[in-house]
Amino acid sequence: MAPNHPFGKDLLSAADLSAPDLIDIMARSRRLAQTDGQGGGAASNSRKIVANLFFQRSTRTKLGFEVAALRLGHRSIDAYDPERNRVGSSNGDNFPDHIRTIAQLADLLVIRHSEELKCHEVARLAPVPVINGGNGSDEHPTQALIDLFCMLEMKGSMDKLSLAISCDSRARYAYSLLLLLKHMPPKRVTYCVDPETHFSEKTQLALDGLAALGTKVSIVHDIEECLDHDVLNIQTQDLTSKVKSTLESGDLPSYVEKDPFVLTADKILKSRSDTIILNPLPRQGELDASCDALPNARYFEQVKLSSYVRMAVLERMLAGIPWTGSAAFGRA
Ligand code: CP
Repeated sequence: MAPNHPFGKDLLSAADLSAPDLIDIMARSRRLAQTDGQGGGAASNSRKIVANLFFQRSTRTKLGFEVAALRLGHRSIDAYDPERNRVGSSNGDNFPDHIRTIAQLADLLVIRHSEELKCHEVARLAPVPVINGGNGSDEHPTQALIDLFCMLEMKGSMDKLSLAISCDSRARYAYSLLLLLKHMPPKRVTYCVDPETHFSEKTQLALDGLAALGTKVSIVHDIEECLDHDVLNIQTQDLTSKVKSTLESGDLPSYVEKDPFVLTADKILKSRSDTIILNPLPRQGELDASCDALPNARYFEQVKLSSYVRMAVLERMLAGIPWTGSAAFGRA
């Protein structure tokens, strides 16, 4: 299907951002953070409507965009409600017609869907800008922008920074983050994963790309090896069945002697670590509540900062400023 819109209107992938786009979003977020979001109010005659289409559950992303729209002086609507909308019902609209309808009523759409290609279909159908709020296990570009902004706010710059990422190798936010990091390569990136992990081709390419830019890239299999880094971005690991059964049987090889992907206050205190802990949330079992009282725990501050990043993204896109990254051009 051919696009019905100018290139660069949508934020579907972190690769939609060029380096100048990324610098612009970080600068806008910084300005908004300095004024606690007060610096971006729309004039009453330029108020816009942001339509949320969440086909999967969400707290932070959905409410985050609602709050960002409100704080900018805009409005948001919940545009997917299977109890009340006609979408998908026997006498209702099919998916494309639902999108075509909402796109005539709203100025920007945010979509989360379990199918990786749905946000691309929506972007082709809608003449207005579309934001990918998470598409299957592919990407979550705004979460990656939030994580990058947090690191810049908390540590100052990326070039001397060591970053550890502990998550399932299919985590969508982590892949988006790797794509952004090519514009601001850290000194060191360590991926903490299940020993049997096979990275997808695209993740391996992103890691190789960072290594080519001078980042020291390593793979470890125990969270304790991440506690000498400046930042640890942690999310749940989907352990392979072999590791799970080994944990259950008690017949433990060295790498699973002690729940290697669970972070506890004991582990942080034992290593005297001052590593900043980020987590996109919600947490599963990977981040023990004992960590919450430590100064390392910055994940709820991360939620606070997310508001400014989402405001910055809406501010730019509602002003019609196109993205100029590699994915923004030539998307079929
Ligand atoms: N971090 C994140 O995407 O959270 P939600 O699933 O609650 O939106």
